[in-house]
Amino acid sequence: MAVRSPILNVMGNAALKAARGLIRDFGEVEQLQVSVKGAGEFVSTADLRAERTLKTELRKARPGYAMLFEESGAEAGSDSRHRWIVDPLDGTTNFLHGIPHFAISIALERDSEIVAGVIYEPIRDEMYWAEKGSGAFVNDRRLRVSARRQLSEAVIGTGMPFGDRGDRPAYLAGLTAVMAATSGVRRIGAAALDLAYVAAGRYDGYWEFGLAPWDIAAGLLLVREAGGYVSDLSGGHAMMTSGDVLAANDHLHLPLAALIRDARRAARAAT
Ligand code: IPD
Ligand code: CA
Ligand code: CA
Repeated sequence: MAVRSPILNVMGNAALKAARGLIRDFGEVEQLQVSVKGAGEFVSTADLRAERTLKTELRKARPGYAMLFEESGAEAGSDSRHRWIVDPLDGTTNFLHGIPHFAISIALERDSEIVAGVIYEPIRDEMYWAEKGSGAFVNDRRLRVSARRQLSEAVIGTGMPFGDRGDRPAYLAGLTAVMAATSGVRRIGAAALDLAYVAAGRYDGYWEFGLAPWDIAAGLLLVREAGGYVSDLSGGHAMMTSGDVLAANDHLHLPLAALIRDARRAARAAT
């Protein structure tokens, strides 16, 4: 039986509490007030309510920690070694369309390194959690990335740029190459869950560009603790600042990165 540390219990309980509000709001989604943050980017009263609950719970347990929350931004704390990085609702577009695929993501950073992460999917009641050096779990089950070695057998997740984001022709060149080389590509609209699915061995790999730190902080730790490898497209490790992520098992990481990089390079050279 997997034993959670006190800090993971704090994170898990905060997520469970915020999830109760999200489930209620999901059942009455047409009544939610929604405003537009940017092209194709929405924020609803559900995001804001969940964020408030998480903030209150995390602050109550560790009053001095600094915070980075998606909706309310950065807050300094008296303990600058520690920082919460939180997305109160990852998959807002799904949520607002009644698509039951969304999650809460909470990460804890110590001295600029992610040391604990929780991703909770309320609809399936799946709690993904990891602590540095202690492995990754979903509920009580240990997670391990997939063992597939052939790209041709792999199912790969991705996130497509929307609205005015990203370099669409370059993205499409990468997508075309991955479509041709693998068993299929999935875009299910919640980056935190995409990473959790790599950790769980459901996806064999995942890539997306231009993400925010709260989308990926907990998921990066989950993948690593499940034995996977995460980098940006060129093999660097500045994912939290660049927002570019490629995650896979050790066998597929290099070939997948090379496939996408070469396709993007060729597309850019052709214009
Ligand atoms: C979004 C989701 C989506 C990804 C976007 C994110 P949000 O987060 O993770 O899958 O493609 O880039 O912004 O807005 O639902 O928290
Ligand atoms: Ca997000
Ligand atoms: Ca969000």
